[in-house]
Amino acid sequence: MVELHRPKGTRDFLPRDMERRRWLEERLRGVLGRFGFGEIATPAFEHTELFTMRSGPGIIEDMYNFKDKGGREVALRPELTAPTMRLYVEGLLGAPKPLKLYYFGNCFRYEQPQKGRYREFWQFGAEILGAKRALGEIEILALAHECLSASGLKDFVFRIGHVGVLRKLFLDNGVPPEGQTPLWPLVDKKDFEGLRAALAEMNVDAGPIIAVLGSSGGREVLDNVPGSGLEEVLDGLGRLGISDFVIEPGIARGLDYYTGMVFEVDVPGLGAEKQVCGGGSYSLSELFGAEPVTSTGFALGFDRMLVALEAQGAAFPQRKLDFYIVPMGPKEREEGLRVLAELRRAGRSADIDLADRNLSKALKYASSANASAAVIIGDEELKSGLLTVKDLATGEQRKAPLAGLLK
Ligand code: HAM
Repeated sequence: MVELHRPKGTRDFLPRDMERRRWLEERLRGVLGRFGFGEIATPAFEHTELFTMRSGPGIIEDMYNFKDKGGREVALRPELTAPTMRLYVEGLLGAPKPLKLYYFGNCFRYEQPQKGRYREFWQFGAEILGAKRALGEIEILALAHECLSASGLKDFVFRIGHVGVLRKLFLDNGVPPEGQTPLWPLVDKKDFEGLRAALAEMNVDAGPIIAVLGSSGGREVLDNVPGSGLEEVLDGLGRLGISDFVIEPGIARGLDYYTGMVFEVDVPGLGAEKQVCGGGSYSLSELFGAEPVTSTGFALGFDRMLVALEAQGAAFPQRKLDFYIVPMGPKEREEGLRVLAELRRAGRSADIDLADRNLSKALKYASSANASAAVIIGDEELKSGLLTVKDLATGEQRKAPLAGLLK
């Protein structure tokens, strides 16, 4: 017999998992709606080239790509920013700007799986195209902050940097642009020893660079990185009542398309896979043959947010069933089905015993299905026309006509 397993790094979601996932999804959709964003959806796979053009070596190594039966190179999407920009260039160039778009979809990366890191995972993200740079950045940062707050997530650390000034820092210290690309993974991992060694090989003094990369703190840190323009962004956020940010000039991000402000959000308690959100300003439209358009966005790691919420003991709401009907015999079952249909038509959630079980077993099942009340129908109920309604939390019983349950 063939043994069938889920592919490594993928997950099945049971009803209880899906209930939590849908709850978080609805919360986030609510925020995006309040911020005036419209939802888009793109294919699960794209031409591989879309991602290799600018995503960076990290993403390319991790990609699920293959030749389809027509010999085309295609890849399962590792992220949704490049597909969003392709969609923009193909179908939204003439639309009124700024465009405020959001998406929720599965992404695929061939990574070594561990808690919080999967080969199939979900991103909930947003992009603003064509806004005035600082205004778009304020809106996107405020949105990311609100998504995290509205989910109930506690203790998240919001870090903001700027890859434009980071590149200039390397340039001013003697590292030309082509020499910088191989250094980004070291900067991203904060591997300062590795960076020191790589810079020594280029005859570059690592001291001034590492001093900036290692700094973090409040607004005063911006003095180390002149020209970022982040002051205006922080002022705007302050006016929106958001001030719990850390300025960290060393944020490099793993993707190559960023050009300006970048940010990451961590939940320190999560350990190695603590980053629950990443984003920033980027340029991709030119690469796809369109005019430059200011672009800024982020993606939340939906699965990691759930891991964090579960770890902090978040009170996820549980699905409830209003009534569970227990008929005591075949004639009572006929009446039970009539009651069931009426309850459902009236908008109440209702279920009926499908296993022909005795009363105590049926009641046990009703509790496990999270039913509020059992409706017991026996001979006496048939004769009197009054149903026995048992409150499954208190155990109290009362008699009620069907009309009383429909309200
Ligand atoms: P990213 O940082 O590569 O950015 O991914 C965004 C988030 O997805 C991460 O912060 C993390 O929470 C989650 N994530 C990434 N890989 C995995 C994985 N293997 N398993 C579980 N969660 C994961 C982007 O993808 C950019 N497109 C974000 C963006 C949008 N930038 C501008 N607009």
